[in-house]
Amino acid sequence: MKPAEQGPIGVFDSGYGGLTILREIRRSLPGYSYLYLGDNARAPYGTRSFDIVYDFTLSAVKRLFEEGCSLVILACNTASAKALRTIQQRDLPRLAPDRRVLGVIRPTVEALGSVSRTGHIAVLATPGTVASQSYTLEVGKLYPEMKISEHACPMWVPLIENDEAYGPGADYFVKKYIDRALDNDPETDTIVLGCTHYPLLLPKILKVVPEGIRILSQGSLVAASLSDYLGRHKEIDSRCARGASVRYLTTEQASRFDHLASLFAGEEVHSERIAL
Ligand code: DGL
Repeated sequence: MKPAEQGPIGVFDSGYGGLTILREIRRSLPGYSYLYLGDNARAPYGTRSFDIVYDFTLSAVKRLFEEGCSLVILACNTASAKALRTIQQRDLPRLAPDRRVLGVIRPTVEALGSVSRTGHIAVLATPGTVASQSYTLEVGKLYPEMKISEHACPMWVPLIENDEAYGPGADYFVKKYIDRALDNDPETDTIVLGCTHYPLLLPKILKVVPEGIRILSQGSLVAASLSDYLGRHKEIDSRCARGASVRYLTTEQASRFDHLASLFAGEEVHSERIAL
């Protein structure tokens, strides 16, 4: 890989979910240029094995590097849980020692210390993220006194990827998974949406979550953490292009991506289809 030059900040997700992160990042850091990549053709990742998620994620990261990104955010919990550590520790030193890849789990866990009163947290995530126990492990390191339970919501991502997030069919599965989490630990006072797709179901989630329980979405947490990171790593920051622009890549048919992405991003999206 040739030495890093100035390029956009790469934001990667298996599909549409990373748009919820990108929206908040752009809100807090509007002056930078961004390149979004959604691997929609191969989503969902959440039910795939460790090795497959790692392979898919690495191929996406390499592509974003080729597009000029010096910094890539894995705006996907499943990829952060299953691929980030190996990419950071094994692949980057060999492939691109001057580039960086960051995830979304650590910034989310760091924020927990200041939000929960009871210390009882429910994390809702994909089956893959739950199986990796990444949240339990990270919380254990930072806040060993907290009681955390992780719950898989396997139907939520397919509903979103298939344009059913706002349809009546989604209500059943939203209530089912929220009820299960709260029945499991009635002292829960904070629900973490530990999948970047889930904020797209927020209107329905809010309808069934009892008052007094806090719902934590990751977008603003990741944005604040990125801003802090760029402030502390001037060598990376200087290689992140400014231009207040965003370009979208997808592995699905572009017109299909554009339709839902425009809804989720709250503005018109025009993407280009790529193969990974
Ligand atoms: N949005 C992703 C996450 O945060 C994964 C969704 C999927 O592809 O299953 O986990």
